[in-house]
Amino acid sequence: MTAAGASEEAPGRKRVGVLISGRGSNMEALVRAAAAPDYPAEIVCVISNRPDAAGLRTAQAAGIATNALDHKAFATRPAFEEALTHALQDHGVELIALAGFMRLMTPAFVQRWHDQIINIHPSLLPAFKGLHVHQRMLDAGVMLAGCTVHVVRAAMDTGPIIAQGAVPVEAGDDAATLAARVLKVEHQLYPHALALYASGALRVEGDQIVWPQGADKVGDAATLDAATMLIAPPLPASPLEQRAQSAI
Ligand code: GRF
Repeated sequence: MTAAGASEEAPGRKRVGVLISGRGSNMEALVRAAAAPDYPAEIVCVISNRPDAAGLRTAQAAGIATNALDHKAFATRPAFEEALTHALQDHGVELIALAGFMRLMTPAFVQRWHDQIINIHPSLLPAFKGLHVHQRMLDAGVMLAGCTVHVVRAAMDTGPIIAQGAVPVEAGDDAATLAARVLKVEHQLYPHALALYASGALRVEGDQIVWPQGADKVGDAATLDAATMLIAPPLPASPLEQRAQSAI
């Protein structure tokens, strides 16, 4: 399918290729969201560098074109990435969504797809880049964990931040329970962030996202109100009342 032919079929929706390496639950969340006809992106292919990735089967079951592109079959990273670019181009991909894709990308690949790659990372970046994030958060004693969707730059887990979600670390958490709580937010956040980015509402300027004039990225009552504000340890039940009492 050519890009030109495809855009005739679905004008206005960004053609997204999702790259995975494993389970693919974030990919599944994107596929589900993109099933809505008014979603500004469509998932046109799912590519895994691991042929045995469970997510490939999930994508096939959802009727999405899949490719298994085993990185081990390529002598060099650039050779793998060249094949990857060809596969993405074959599907007319305009935007790449990394969803648990466990390969570092060369600066050349990131430059080739400049501002066209987004990623989800299970921490409130720029804190806790890299691997084993949940255990490292627990070891550091943080109280708020979360996840970030960002535009990809050459350095690992860096780039303009599109959206973030926070959850509390709870007493007795281990890496698995914390990861599960963060993952629930990831499944909400990624479709939301992809929609924002694919709709063209946001601009990237250098290392920052520029929001449209008049948009209030955190204060908009439609997306964040007092009930969803997350503060840990929690505020006293009724701070106003307590303040009034202490004034007497
Ligand atoms: C997610 O936690 C994501 O944030 C990270 O890798 C994990 C992938 O999980 N980059 P899944 O394959 O989407 O289920």
